[in-house]
Amino acid sequence: MHADVDRILFSESEIVAGIDRVAREVTRAYTGRDFTVVSVLKGSCVFASDLIRRIPIPLELAFLAASSYGDGTEAGRLEVNFFPTGNEIEGRNLLLVDDILDTGRTLHALKHELALRGAAEVRTCVFLDKPSRRAVPLQADFRAFEVENLFVVGYGLDFAGRYRNLPYVASLREAIYAAPKPGPV
Ligand code: IMP
Ligand code: MG
Repeated sequence: MHADVDRILFSESEIVAGIDRVAREVTRAYTGRDFTVVSVLKGSCVFASDLIRRIPIPLELAFLAASSYGDGTEAGRLEVNFFPTGNEIEGRNLLLVDDILDTGRTLHALKHELALRGAAEVRTCVFLDKPSRRAVPLQADFRAFEVENLFVVGYGLDFAGRYRNLPYVASLREAIYAAPKPGPV
């Protein structure tokens, strides 16, 4: 276990089982329909890449970059850095994939933006769902795990840019949040 970690919430094997389940649900929902998985960078890159390899039906892959957090743990303004091209959106069935559904502001704003840009349908799939933190009414269509009201890192999720490469989901020791910089990964 990494020295900065307080507690592991989901181990590697638990993550595999959760992704297998959500991949089956997505497969069932989209069998016979064209769809595009839209991975929200940076946080969902680990989840999205494991997820798509467990979906045995045709799909396309697109990326967008958005962030609603600064360097801390409080929600900030949504920043959209880049979007898929028009023909990757217009008339397409999109499955927005994100690392975590927290206040819901990010996915709510992104769903709205993609609909404005002509998507035929926008559904959402999240690795983690923190329902206790919701500020806008949004439910994910698919989710791997529900998580308690705790700031977590690993498997794509960061604190101040670090810990995305941990293969499990964990909470960090108090001292890490208090320190000006987190320890090295
Ligand atoms: P929302 O807009 O509040 O739903 O926030 C979504 C984004 O906030 C996620 O894509 C994450 O980047 C970030 N976030 C929310 N909670 C956590 C957490 O516990 N750990 C790491 N990042 C988080
Ligand atoms: Mg994120």
